[in-house]
Amino acid sequence: MKSRIIVIGGGLIGCAVATELASRNFQVLLFEKHFPGQEASWASAGMLAPQTEAKNPDPLFQLCIKSSSMYKDYVQELKEITGLDPCYRTSGAIQIAFDQSSIEQLLQSHKWQFEQGLKIEWLTHQQALDLEPNLSNEVAGALFYQDEFQIDNRKLVETLITAAERKGVEIHSGCQVTEILTDNYSVTGIVANEKRYSACKVINAAGSWGSMLKVEDRFLPKVFPVRGQMVSLKTSPSLLKQTVHFDHYYLVPRFDGTIIVGSTTEQVGYEKRVTTAGLESLLANAQKVVPTLATASFKEAWAGLRPATEDGLPILGQHPEISGLIFATGHYRNGVLLVPITAKLIAELVEKEQEPDQLLPFSPARFLMQNCLPAV
Ligand code: GLY
Repeated sequence: MKSRIIVIGGGLIGCAVATELASRNFQVLLFEKHFPGQEASWASAGMLAPQTEAKNPDPLFQLCIKSSSMYKDYVQELKEITGLDPCYRTSGAIQIAFDQSSIEQLLQSHKWQFEQGLKIEWLTHQQALDLEPNLSNEVAGALFYQDEFQIDNRKLVETLITAAERKGVEIHSGCQVTEILTDNYSVTGIVANEKRYSACKVINAAGSWGSMLKVEDRFLPKVFPVRGQMVSLKTSPSLLKQTVHFDHYYLVPRFDGTIIVGSTTEQVGYEKRVTTAGLESLLANAQKVVPTLATASFKEAWAGLRPATEDGLPILGQHPEISGLIFATGHYRNGVLLVPITAKLIAELVEKEQEPDQLLPFSPARFLMQNCLPAV
């Protein structure tokens, strides 16, 4: 008889972990409070960008680089399982500077990433405009990242839900998990919509809602929401060939001429409104980067909640006190990027009952003595 695993949360991470476990011959039940994939996974821009946001070659950076390198084969496997195409696009990215202080920051990134052997290239004003002719004439210089990619995250959501179903994952939509059941500090199951389900292991992939579960009197590491507002514009033909980063803004071009502009970073609780100020800053900065976007059509505006943690690292691994309770949450700005590596490492942990070395820097044990939130 197959061992039963329960995954809490139907975002990309939850669906990917569930699919991987089902492929490894576990019986998998996935619980999602609403519809799978409709929160941060749906709201993101689908950038696969390990380099542009990194400050140093820390363990998170290494994990992101590893996951990025797995993406091509991962998408191919999903296509074979589902027949669906999530539009993985390998067109690179550029990060632009308008003034001397931003140039200096970019040159620092260039130095350490070049030393790490990563593909990164400095572009002069003219080289940046040759690559992307619709960029502002005010651009002073840029970095070009050949290995930064993108995927259509909403298509990836659909693809992963289909893959999970094809692999036999039992998806319970509209089913809110409120409690993780234990016996003598070992997981025995969950309560969802007031019904009990048994399992030998429970994976907490509930994103920003990851610390809202009741588990005996134990502590759960804190995960909290950070809002990102987004807007999409319609251009025809497309004004950009690759993702452009500027400061904490980015413009992500899709194949159909849509340009997605992100994003704000706001701690406003579980509030997913789009605000006038948020929209104004996105539109102003988009036009600063590509002035002709002033004539683009407005398409859509939305906001999502990134699952953040107190030290900025994801929480991946076994709870230090409750056997069988595993975390796969807190991916913050890197949820889409970290899908393949999270699915692989969490499935290995379940299968071998031993934490893979790559997970050690992200263990929930680091929160045991400090910065913990009492379970509610
Ligand atoms: N990774 C982009 C964002 O979180 O806005």
